[in-house]
Amino acid sequence: MFLYHVPVTLSDYMVERVKTGIEGLDKALNGGIPYKNIVLISGGAGTGKSTLCLQYLINGAKMGEKGLYISTEQSKQELYKTGASFGWNLEQLEKSNKIKIAYFDVVESDNFLEKIYELYTSFEPKRVVIDSLTTLTDSLLVTGMGKDGAFSMVKIAESISPIPKTERIVSKNLLYHLLKKLRLFESTILLTSELLEESKGLSADQISEFICDGVVVLKSLALGETLNRTLTIKKMRYSSMDGGIKSYDINDIGFSVQ
Ligand SMILES: Nc1ncnc2c1ncn2[C@@H]1O[C@H](COP(=O)(O)OP(=O)(O)OP(=O)(O)O)[C@@H](O)[C@H]1O
Ligand SMILES: [Mg+2]
Repeated sequence: MFLYHVPVTLSDYMVERVKTGIEGLDKALNGGIPYKNIVLISGGAGTGKSTLCLQYLINGAKMGEKGLYISTEQSKQELYKTGASFGWNLEQLEKSNKIKIAYFDVVESDNFLEKIYELYTSFEPKRVVIDSLTTLTDSLLVTGMGKDGAFSMVKIAESISPIPKTERIVSKNLLYHLLKKLRLFESTILLTSELLEESKGLSADQISEFICDGVVVLKSLALGETLNRTLTIKKMRYSSMDGGIKSYDINDIGFSVQ
């Protein structure tokens, strides 16, 4: 069902791949995401970032791969509701230990890096989603990174370094720390990022696109009475890819790429 006949390079054959289970996307990726890649899913509000990520885990569960969904935006109940609108029973999948949803309230708590690591070691997922990276890193910037790092604004303000650290350098350092931790996981990871329509970069911080292994950009544009949704793979390390603009749709059964 998920086999494709796509001409690929010799090195493509040697890459272990993780199928998203979204046919058009796997085809554009020459079979799937290279195993252990960290992929940024960037898009504006309502472009379907969460739907794509949930579907990645649902399809993984069908293939016998456990999935962890870390949400900083929607609570567990809200995600159950999102899933229900596509006919996915997320609660049931959690009960059968196929997926795990963890909600991080960025206003109420901190030590997120440790929490992510604990969730990973106790559940051992093959697929991980962080929705959204933007909220998580914003929160880490304000609260610091717990015992893993020293990158809170407060700590930097207190430091005696003669080099003034701009917010961009701090953000970059923070992202490096987070990704270094995530690279320890035996998982293939999706991170979502907000992307404003007028943005020049490919992510909210305009840094993540350089650090992540892959970038997929989702766009929704109203043309007259129709909504034109497009997906573009901007980058995928360790793989050849079809980087052309693809149409995608969200309907009652979820996310599909033409
Ligand atoms: N059952 C459905 N049928 C068709 N479209 C749906 C259905 N359920 C949701 N949608 C569409 O999916 C879109 C929301 O998708 P999703 O929440 O995944 O986007 P998002 O990019 O994560 O948004 P946000 O920026 O708010 O986090 C809605 O705008 C809606 O148009
Ligand atoms: Mg969302």
